[in-house]
Amino acid sequence: MTLFRARVTSQSLTRWCLCLVMATAAGACRSESKPESPPEAPAASVQAAAAEEPVDLHGTGGVEGVDAAYDRSRQPAKFIAALGIAPGQRIADVGAGQGYFTQRLAEAVGPTGRVVATDINDEAIRRLRERVLARKNVEVRKVEPDAPGLEAGTYDLILLSEVDHFLSDRVDYLTRLRAALTPQGRIAVTHLRAMRPPLAAAAQTAGYAVVSEYNDLPDHYLLFLRPTVSP
Ligand SMILES: C[S@@+](CC[C@H](N)C(=O)[O-])C[C@H]1O[C@@H](n2cnc3c(N)ncnc32)[C@H](O)[C@@H]1O
Repeated sequence: MTLFRARVTSQSLTRWCLCLVMATAAGACRSESKPESPPEAPAASVQAAAAEEPVDLHGTGGVEGVDAAYDRSRQPAKFIAALGIAPGQRIADVGAGQGYFTQRLAEAVGPTGRVVATDINDEAIRRLRERVLARKNVEVRKVEPDAPGLEAGTYDLILLSEVDHFLSDRVDYLTRLRAALTPQGRIAVTHLRAMRPPLAAAAQTAGYAVVSEYNDLPDHYLLFLRPTVSP
């Protein structure tokens, strides 16, 4: 039990959970890097830190700079550049978790832009709010699982990063998201590569086309959607 509450393994745990999902869905757990071994017994200092880690944070992603292997996999700088964000844009970071990308998104939109980071997890919300307290261009918003909680016609980019597997109905959720986009707005979706097929199928059913795709991340796909129908 202590093992699974270790702070240093929380990001690895997310990947392990995703790998389990992938293994079920695709029969394999793909990773460019050497597959992570099951976490080893933590050292005494880690065990002490583990006692402070709320179990509630499991599945909420990570924070950049904590786990070098995880950062190598996610390539945050490259990822944000690939999003093609312009200063002043309004962005929704749906299922932001602990905010792995939120701070970089805020920097990319600059002081005239705005990032709304949503999540359903109270502890992730609390931690992310603390972390972005000094940033005037970020709002952290608690939402309900089946309602994006985003204003209509407002967002130039809506990011779903490693979140769609949590949605009870991808098609319904993506359909609801459409109203929140500006006329030229895009949805960016990223996840481990084996998770692409169900998302791509749902996006098509929900009335979106894949308008571009970025293929230069080690483990993740990144695709951009635009509506093919009006809200
Ligand atoms: C694996 S984490 C991803 C965090 C971050 N986006 C990242 O890429 O590291 C998934 C997050 O999605 C949140 N989540 C799950 N279902 C959600 C929903 N319906 N609406 C908003 N957030 C949701 C979870 O609470 C969790 O924090």
